[in-house]
Amino acid sequence: MAEPVQIAVVGSGYVGLVAAVCFAEMGHSVICVDNDERKVAALQGGDTLIHENYLPELLERYRNTGVRFMTDLGEATRACQAIFVAVGTPQSETGDADLSYVEAVASEIARSIDGYKVIIEKSTVPVYTNEWIRRVIERNGVHREAFDVVSNPEFLREGTAVEDFLHPDRIVIGADSKRASDLLSAIYAPLTGGEYYDRPDAIAGCCSALKPPPSLLTSTKSAEIIKHASNAFLALKISFINAVSNLCEAADANVEQVAQGIGLDSRIGPKFLRPGIGYGGSCFPKDIAAFRSVGEQMGVDFNLLSEVEKINDNQKKRFLGKVRSALWTLRGKRLAVLGLAFKGDTDDIRESPAIDLVEMLLAEGCMVVAFDPAAMERAQAKLPPSAQLRYANSIDEAAADADALLILTDWREFARIDLMQLHTLMRYPIIIDGRNLYDPQRMLESGFTYLSIGRPSATPVREDVKLAV
Ligand code: UGA
Repeated sequence: MAEPVQIAVVGSGYVGLVAAVCFAEMGHSVICVDNDERKVAALQGGDTLIHENYLPELLERYRNTGVRFMTDLGEATRACQAIFVAVGTPQSETGDADLSYVEAVASEIARSIDGYKVIIEKSTVPVYTNEWIRRVIERNGVHREAFDVVSNPEFLREGTAVEDFLHPDRIVIGADSKRASDLLSAIYAPLTGGEYYDRPDAIAGCCSALKPPPSLLTSTKSAEIIKHASNAFLALKISFINAVSNLCEAADANVEQVAQGIGLDSRIGPKFLRPGIGYGGSCFPKDIAAFRSVGEQMGVDFNLLSEVEKINDNQKKRFLGKVRSALWTLRGKRLAVLGLAFKGDTDDIRESPAIDLVEMLLAEGCMVVAFDPAAMERAQAKLPPSAQLRYANSIDEAAADADALLILTDWREFARIDLMQLHTLMRYPIIIDGRNLYDPQRMLESGFTYLSIGRPSATPVREDVKLAV
């Protein structure tokens, strides 16, 4: 059994909270610090605050035992040897990451350092951040031998964050000192040594005692770049397939077949080749802009990323064009919108292309009735109900009497709609699918006009309508 480590996690957002409960699940003793007293009280009371698989169970298991929540960063710093910084790095007006929260945390940690500490960047940060954290801590009077700064980026996806944390593809430890990398290796030993996966109560996933995750030791700077480059590459894959889908539309080919054909090449791989209305969320848009900005600051031309962003933006405009092509004029049209979250299995609407599209449709004068299985509350806070925008309690309620139905988020339940029932509910059987959840042939057989991304559209021939000659 590996030795438990005293760990502080600063920030209780998606990354911080998931890391805190997962470190406890791995056998460590964790303090999760947040300066928001209401959040800390909610977490102490068992409210997870975010929609994430396994989080309620793990929080229940370790709340106030394996994980303690508090607002006092000084106390947590004194009590722990490893301090993970997982605070927000929002996008500033210029596209750079705003690192003021990271700096404030570094200064506060510095004021309480009373022995050797390892400060670990978990937030996504530009490549020079570890140096700045080092400088800030030294400026506050801490000797450079008394601490190390390490980069240990997280690759978790919202919705599957706990599984991604405990069953990662890789663990990246970017450290410039052996003492620090040894501590990080000890923290991850229950995963890299496979011991965790033998536990009968382990969260299931793709790793096992026989196939534990690899850990990669790098320099701090390389680890910082690995995080940004990973997100940028994934976004690039999405924009690439979206660009190919546009070509498929122009050439009357099928992008699903093309994606399958290229994805079978093991050098390319099948994942992240789903075309749609573009990527969103709290990570890709912000991280791509920040990575591009880091390049610019360092004199490196990274125009490739500007193209990735341009294609992504264009996908929404193209989708609006599809709606127009199916309905001709948009003013006054009654549209059912399925999906508001930036992807399925989450209630997160940050940078959601679905929300952008609803705003574009409202600006065109459409009447929108929207439904999402988890993101309605957050959506209503951003786009309050109005004469033009209503929120429905079910797919059927949204579809009733609609001139067309739009699928904007890839929720599994949107791929299992009773099509016969839907047909009877809608005013016109027209579906414009921004996530390719249905087979066009099946839609045709069910009597729908069906437009999707990068595939030939389907329009049933109405035999009951005879031309008067
Ligand atoms: C992403 C990365 O996948 C994680 O590895 C990373 O840790 C995380 O950002 C982060 O930096 O914190 P996430 O934002 O949760 O995770 O969402 P993804 O599942 O990657 O999806 C991002 C967006 O791309 C969504 O809008 C999704 O609908 C879209 N997408 C994804 C596509 O349009 N096509 C695809 O083939 C895949």
